[in-house]
Amino acid sequence: MTDAPLLVLQGVDVVYKHVVRAVRGIALEVKRGQVVAILGANGAGKTTTLRAISGFIGLDHARVTAGTIVFKGEHLENRLPHQITRLGISITPERDKVFPNLTVSENMSVAPSRLTNAERKRTTDMVFQFFPALAARRNSEAGLLSGGERQMLGIGAKLVCGPELLLVDELSLGLAPLITQELIARLMQIKDELGLSLLLVEQNAAVALQMADYAYVFENGEIALEGDRAMMRGNRHIQELYLGGGAGGRRNYRDARAAREVRGQHGRA
Ligand SMILES: Nc1ncnc2c1ncn2[C@@H]1O[C@H](COP(=O)(O)OP(=O)(O)OP(=O)(O)O)[C@@H](O)[C@H]1O
Ligand SMILES: [Mg+2]
Repeated sequence: MTDAPLLVLQGVDVVYKHVVRAVRGIALEVKRGQVVAILGANGAGKTTTLRAISGFIGLDHARVTAGTIVFKGEHLENRLPHQITRLGISITPERDKVFPNLTVSENMSVAPSRLTNAERKRTTDMVFQFFPALAARRNSEAGLLSGGERQMLGIGAKLVCGPELLLVDELSLGLAPLITQELIARLMQIKDELGLSLLLVEQNAAVALQMADYAYVFENGEIALEGDRAMMRGNRHIQELYLGGGAGGRRNYRDARAAREVRGQHGRA
């Protein structure tokens, strides 16, 4: 295992429809075998960044207008999604993770893959082994799955593409805490088994920091803060703003920020 970064973003700007600058000057990296998290409020630019890396911003009439995105020495800026998949990056998106009218098995076999048929079969078997709930429902339509099962399938169907780097947008969104914990445990086992690297987007900082070796905090399209797990846990700003360090056990950025603003209005910030 080498320490050279697998993915490096430098000075990346993304503009939607020639007008809306969603992110500005983003610089981040993911090393081999690392789990990196992007945290931040609604509209901070987290999804835009993942879609810029995976090539899907093109579908939203957006472009990388400045900076570089380099994966294993290859430039990815404004390339097409299937080209990027072929290089070894897959994404489990925030929405539309599965094809609802196809069965679980069909979902697992529909995406283009870098793997040989034998490797593909091995990976499919591994996914069903790690997610027995999916195996039990392999002939059910994906539209009938629970939120947790849908997330498992969204991840499993992308593992079958054979990525070296998996991007996951909002792993925990809408899931019960117990299901989230189960997913985290399985995903970390799969990561070790396959030697994957992960770049996660999360609004739930507690979840992100449970998994991540390193985290970037986005605010209004820019990186406001970054650091390793120890730094994040030790940082008072992060503690208060993201980890519910204050009363009430707030678990996401938006709640924490709202609480801070209310305190500010009352002159106690
Ligand atoms: N298709 C689009 N067309 C124009 N602007 C967009 C589009 N998608 C996102 N934006 C804008 O880009 C900015 C960043 O949005 P993005 O979806 O990346 O944020 P996010 O951090 O993922 O937020 P959330 O937590 O709500 O998912 C926002 O100002 C948003 O309005
Ligand atoms: Mg998003």
